[in-house]
Amino acid sequence: MAIRTLISAQEIADKLADMGRRIASDYVGRDLLMVGVLKGAFMVMADLARQVDLPVEFDFMAVSSYGASTQTSGVVRILKDLDQEIAGRHVLIVEDIIDSGLTLNYLLKSLSVRRPASLDVATLLLKEGIQRVPLEVKYVGFSIGPEFVIGYGLDYAGLYRNLPYVGVMEGDPA
Ligand code: PRP
Repeated sequence: MAIRTLISAQEIADKLADMGRRIASDYVGRDLLMVGVLKGAFMVMADLARQVDLPVEFDFMAVSSYGASTQTSGVVRILKDLDQEIAGRHVLIVEDIIDSGLTLNYLLKSLSVRRPASLDVATLLLKEGIQRVPLEVKYVGFSIGPEFVIGYGLDYAGLYRNLPYVGVMEGDPA
């Protein structure tokens, strides 16, 4: 099995620096709460947050939709909820990838009923044109094709999250 680099570590770093500057400018004077969606978003969260030059709070949710398969099941399980109340807070959900959009759709619905002052989304990757639900995503790093990607937080069967770049598996994954 070979891994082809789709987006290099440097390209990711440059993009997150841009995104971080935009977020810092958009949220100046607001009490920003960044919510990382585990596990995949841990790396984006860590690198993006360091590019946001504002006092920022963090929280995490853990959800799972894929199990060990490469296909979305459409079923979203909340494995860990937020630790804090978000009523009146400016919440920015941080994702590694939006694929079918079902995970994000579920998160947006379940967080919006908690009455945040604002609720927006930053994602490193957006698979273009395949969302099953209409979604508004304020900050998008890279729009990509339908290929199954790994690395930089994204796994295949629990592995490859630690790659410093986004890659595509080629050949037999076994
Ligand atoms: C991935 C990713 C998103 C979701 C996107 O998480 O981190 O949360 O899938 O897919 P969707 O748009 O089709 O819903 P996954 O469920 O694989 O869990 P993980 O982050 O723990 O790997």
